[in-house]
Amino acid sequence: MNLNSVIFIMGVSGSGKSTIGKLLSEKTNMPFFDGDDFHPQSNIDKMTNGLPLNDEDRKEWLLTLNELAKKQLQLNSCIIVCSALKDSYREILNADIQNCVKWVHLKGSFDLISQRMKKREDHFMGANMLESQFNTLEHPLNALDINISFKPSEIVKSIMKFIEVKSEFGLFGLGVMGKSLSRNLAQRGFRLSIFNREVKGVEEDVAINFKSKYNELHNAQPFSDIKAFVNSLQIPRRIMLMVNAGETTDIVIEDLIPLLSEGDILIDGGNSNYLKTKERYDYLNSKNIHFIGVGVSGGEEGALNGPSIMPGGNKEIYNLVKPYLENIAAKDANNLPCCSYIGEEGSGHFVKMVHNGIEYVEMQLLAEVYTIFKTMGKNPDEIADILESWRVKADSYLLGITIDILRKKDGDEWLVDKIVDKAGNKGTGNWTTIATAKLGAPSTLIASALFARYISFYKEERLLASKNFNIKPSVFNIDSDDVLKAYQFARIINHYQGLKLISEAGKAYKWNLNLSEIARIWTNGCIIKSDFMIELISVLKEDDNILKHNSIIDQIKFLKPSVNKVVSQCILNELTVPCLSESVNFLNNYITGRSSANIIQAQRDYFGAHTYQRTDDASGKFYHTNW
Ligand code: 6PG
Repeated sequence: MNLNSVIFIMGVSGSGKSTIGKLLSEKTNMPFFDGDDFHPQSNIDKMTNGLPLNDEDRKEWLLTLNELAKKQLQLNSCIIVCSALKDSYREILNADIQNCVKWVHLKGSFDLISQRMKKREDHFMGANMLESQFNTLEHPLNALDINISFKPSEIVKSIMKFIEVKSEFGLFGLGVMGKSLSRNLAQRGFRLSIFNREVKGVEEDVAINFKSKYNELHNAQPFSDIKAFVNSLQIPRRIMLMVNAGETTDIVIEDLIPLLSEGDILIDGGNSNYLKTKERYDYLNSKNIHFIGVGVSGGEEGALNGPSIMPGGNKEIYNLVKPYLENIAAKDANNLPCCSYIGEEGSGHFVKMVHNGIEYVEMQLLAEVYTIFKTMGKNPDEIADILESWRVKADSYLLGITIDILRKKDGDEWLVDKIVDKAGNKGTGNWTTIATAKLGAPSTLIASALFARYISFYKEERLLASKNFNIKPSVFNIDSDDVLKAYQFARIINHYQGLKLISEAGKAYKWNLNLSEIARIWTNGCIIKSDFMIELISVLKEDDNILKHNSIIDQIKFLKPSVNKVVSQCILNELTVPCLSESVNFLNNYITGRSSANIIQAQRDYFGAHTYQRTDDASGKFYHTNW
């Protein structure tokens, strides 16, 4: 049994502590220690001479047992039998480990025990001392009292039932996010089992060490043994996987399947691909194991203090994990949890993926704003000051952290100037771009932001090309208020495109999504939380397409001249602003009632007889011309 507990079996001499302790040890595989074996010689001498031990005699002995208990806890669990008659003795035994100690008190009448004592002539303690033991005994309040007149096997059964308190929620994987979520769950009073694999010399005792670092985890059961972890959970088991998305998730699922029971629930809290979530959902369903794919946003801090949570899967099954997820989620302005059932299958992970796509664009736009001001000759502190002033009109989490980043010094210099200009990614922007292409939804800014990251990675080629072409941005000046307006404009387009993609996915996959509710759970806890997101809650109540909403149309009209000015200045001055410029192009394309697509259709028909429809035939009939 893997409980991370010390079971102290106490009672007066002759109550059968050793017999019960050994039997319990056999049943549970927990190591057994007889407290009497740890007496200093001076104590043994005293007792064999028929002299009672005083408190001073006992102190050293109890401290030794406390040390033993602590040492065993590092390894996992143990059983220690010891008379521990007084509260003050038990306090010493408990010191520093009270949350991991379980007390079992073997109780019997004076007559019964003295009869038993008389039969045990080998014991160094005479039966005549029993009376003083009964006089000394202070009844423990927090112990399991067991009547020793029962059969030893029954006594052991009761003890096992008592110590086997099952956890209600399991957290698998103690990386940065897993640790923060565990602490968040524990802080809200949930009884947890936490697991991290053991890799000798690399990852050892991760769960035990983690538990010992944080007070709130005092009730948590730590494991590096997967079987013990699974067995420590109440049925149906609720296990949240916080492991690297991709192959690792499948490996972990395969490791868990043989240990799970029908009806157990796996919750994947990683940034998994929504298509894989659907596959895993179906696969586990065939084994009668439930699967909930959960998008979690907010990074380490969000996970600890309240992330935004996007769960997808079967609604009834979600209801079984809802109290945990809603409890740990961030709260919106009305104190409602930023966690809401999204829809069937992989919809939770889909929405999280698009969240990340929007995140990529929001980040890229701030990078473009930075490059504009930098080209205008401003230093990072000056840029931070300008961005600070934008908070009144366009505040967001990402704006806030960008201000902090710009102000951060490394010695006398700005840290940001020392960071290599190659932007990494973990794949969610890539998936969003694939999804947008697949679903025929034009989330062009997400693609632009993704490709900007990819181009950034061609560092050596860029350096060479900058020499070969020798075209460099020239210093130019534009009003910083125009830059703010351009930024606001592009953000509206970004949110339109991201939400449009979600709406198209909802239709294609029949997910029945509520976009206003999605915006609501993105108003706190997540990376893309912003004042604009709060505004979108009511906008989306009217229509999934935010560009149909009058207030948004008015804003776009108001901001458009500025974004035109900023983007054209950037182009004229050789400065790359892929998302800002794409936002203008996209809107211009979107608001063109009669576009140039007639030429494309004619070309397709010319070389491939793909046919076209005519403006003068409302029936929608398809024509072919012999060009
Ligand atoms: C979040 C973040 C988080 C993570 C991304 C970063 O919502 O908390 O989006 O999920 O930071 O994985 O993705 P990239 O590494 O692709 O930038």
